[in-house]
Amino acid sequence: MSNHGGRHLDTTVTTAAAIGEVAAALAGKAEVDGGIRRGTDILKALVLGARAVLIGRPVLWGLAVQGADGVAAVIEHLRVELVRAMQLSGTASLRDIGPDLIAAN
Ligand SMILES: Cc1cc2nc3c(=O)[nH]c(=O)nc-3n(C[C@H](O)[C@H](O)[C@H](O)COP(=O)(O)O)c2cc1C
Repeated sequence: MSNHGGRHLDTTVTTAAAIGEVAAALAGKAEVDGGIRRGTDILKALVLGARAVLIGRPVLWGLAVQGADGVAAVIEHLRVELVRAMQLSGTASLRDIGPDLIAAN
């Protein structure tokens, strides 16, 4: 599920706002992209029902700065942030991620 990175029409529905409904309709088989910038963004997308996230511009920025090594660095940075967010939220495994991890308000 993608809003094309929000590039086409400003103020469209965010993927975060729609992923729950879409994931439920697809029995949890939805991947999401658009605006994933931090490990906490990944964790939140998974909590909201995505089974995976895709990354657009951040890997291009890494590529522009340092080629293949820059891409690898961006992905590693996100991985480390995701692990840290899991540790700080008491999430031992990606399998443990559920809606209770995000407060309702
Ligand atoms: C410069 C640029 C061009 C893009 N062109 C297309 C396109 O032609 N077709 C498409 O489906 N998505 C296109 N996208 C959207 C990406 O496939 C992807 O959904 C988006 O970049 C993900 O959001 P993120 O960059 O915030 O991670 C484009 C994105 C960028 C930044």
